[in-house]
Amino acid sequence: MQTGSTPSLARHPDLAGRRVVVTGGLSGIGVATAGRFVAEGSRVVVLDVDAARAAAVEAELPGLAGIVSCDVADPAAVAAAFAEVDRLVGGVDVLVANAGISIRHRFLDITPEEWRRVLAVNLDGVFFCAREAARRMVAGGGGAILMTASTNGVVGHPFYADYNASKAGVILLARSMALELAPTVRVNAVCPGYVLTPMQQAEYTPEMLAATDAKIPLRRHARPDEVASLFAFLASDEGAYITGAAIPIDGGELAGGLASRDWIRPDLGLT
Ligand SMILES: NC(=O)c1ccc[n+]([C@@H]2O[C@H](COP(=O)([O-])OP(=O)(O)OC[C@H]3O[C@@H](n4cnc5c(N)ncnc54)[C@H](O)[C@@H]3O)[C@@H](O)[C@H]2O)c1
Repeated sequence: MQTGSTPSLARHPDLAGRRVVVTGGLSGIGVATAGRFVAEGSRVVVLDVDAARAAAVEAELPGLAGIVSCDVADPAAVAAAFAEVDRLVGGVDVLVANAGISIRHRFLDITPEEWRRVLAVNLDGVFFCAREAARRMVAGGGGAILMTASTNGVVGHPFYADYNASKAGVILLARSMALELAPTVRVNAVCPGYVLTPMQQAEYTPEMLAATDAKIPLRRHARPDEVASLFAFLASDEGAYITGAAIPIDGGELAGGLASRDWIRPDLGLT
């Protein structure tokens, strides 16, 4: 039975030598994904806005081909960053457009500035990076574009209306791009549920973590490396027939509605 042990890496020999760009690759899901592709032998360039974390990630992942400082919400910065990617590794075979932000706030309190920033990073940023990558992939005759959406882009969640709208946009961007760019470039969105990143772990008390885990059918959060595994599979030749998909990796979160949550009711004897 698979529970929580760290899998051995390097499962996709065809990823060796591939030129991979990971945005938001200095933390959480992004750094796990960058590490997974490095382990596969890919040439990985990370784009991230958080320059302060660069040295630590460089030390953690000495096999990285480069870390480029870039705010994905700024199209000029994205163009410059991809020019730097060209200089470092000579093009792009795989893009993981993963950088994203969220703000917990009530819908009635969302300011226009907050709305704009969340949409700018999570949706505009994916568009800018995907366009740069797709131009290179179409010219080069192939490639895979992967986007980090969310279960929040599939069903509503309170207190994240702007974030949820941005992630729903990412899913339809992936599907539309997949149609236009087929058969040359595959485009897919991945929809993680609850992922226990180090920063999120720091925000939970043990009680909060246990209460959230209890609501998830598999009774635990995902590890960032489990999301990285899905990205590696989708980028590899094993994922060659998958395009235009929005794939949940959510421990069953989206599998059912209210009745599917009955196990959290001790009075029903189902715990
Ligand atoms: N953690 C979860 O439970 C979860 C669930 C579903 C989806 N996601 C999505 O996964 C992605 C990664 O999330 P995470 O939990 O690893 O978050 P994280 O905060 O640990 O990492 C996000 C990274 O993106 C970078 N970033 C933020 N704004 C940027 C910008 N404008 N330009 C470039 N880089 C920028 C940050 O510096 C950071 O390194 C996000 O798109 C998030 O919405 C996360």
